[in-house]
Amino acid sequence: MVSAWLFNDDKSDQRNPHQFSPNQPISLAELAEFGVLYFFIDAARGEAYYQSEIDKFAKARNYKNRDIINIHKDTFPNYDEKIKIFFEEHLHEDEEIRFVLDGSGYFDVRDKKDRWIRIAVKQGDLLILPAGIYHRFTLDTNNYIKPMRLFKEVPNGLQSTVTSQTQTRTPTVRSTSNNSSLSERSIPIQTTHALLRRLLRLNSTRFMLRLWKLRLERPTLVRSICTSSLLVIFLLLRRSMDST
Ligand SMILES: [Fe+2]
Repeated sequence: MVSAWLFNDDKSDQRNPHQFSPNQPISLAELAEFGVLYFFIDAARGEAYYQSEIDKFAKARNYKNRDIINIHKDTFPNYDEKIKIFFEEHLHEDEEIRFVLDGSGYFDVRDKKDRWIRIAVKQGDLLILPAGIYHRFTLDTNNYIKPMRLFKEVPNGLQSTVTSQTQTRTPTVRSTSNNSSLSERSIPIQTTHALLRRLLRLNSTRFMLRLWKLRLERPTLVRSICTSSLLVIFLLLRRSMDST
């Protein structure tokens, strides 16, 4: 069963739980409020069982493709570099769907107050992160996870590693795409509309910080926001001068 809590940024190893003392748990209902959905499929019952359940789940939610990756220091190429990349905050324009076949790890997601929420996943946990949510991933101190990734479409660069359910009635997913990133950083980031909605929810300080972070990722949008803001300030000043 998945568990989640408010992330304590104590600057220690990212693989640590990072809980406050006392812990500040986050319920599944709270996760659902900002679009993070949780399901459980008992992967310990064996491949035949979980494949059958995943087939039904994927059909219901229109996930056409899937693959499996195996992240462990002994088998995963460029392990240390990839672990750092996974932990970089990012977002996607599509859902991120992960079903944990074995091992464990942490997904961190930002809530509506821009706080990091840490979600601990282990065998059988199926997590759906909504499009446009800021998130990151890290292994925990067990240093191993084997997730199945499900996709509505195949992300760029993963075509050769992903099995299409539409091509086979009983897909046997054996792709061990160790070169793939768990976070598919090549997928375009969220839509401008979703991003603006998120920015407008922030207070002034966080808004400025977020804008600064976005300057490389979305330079055109940041320029537009700055230009619009300057125009509004100019008009307000003119109005103020006219009235005096
Ligand atoms: Fe991601």
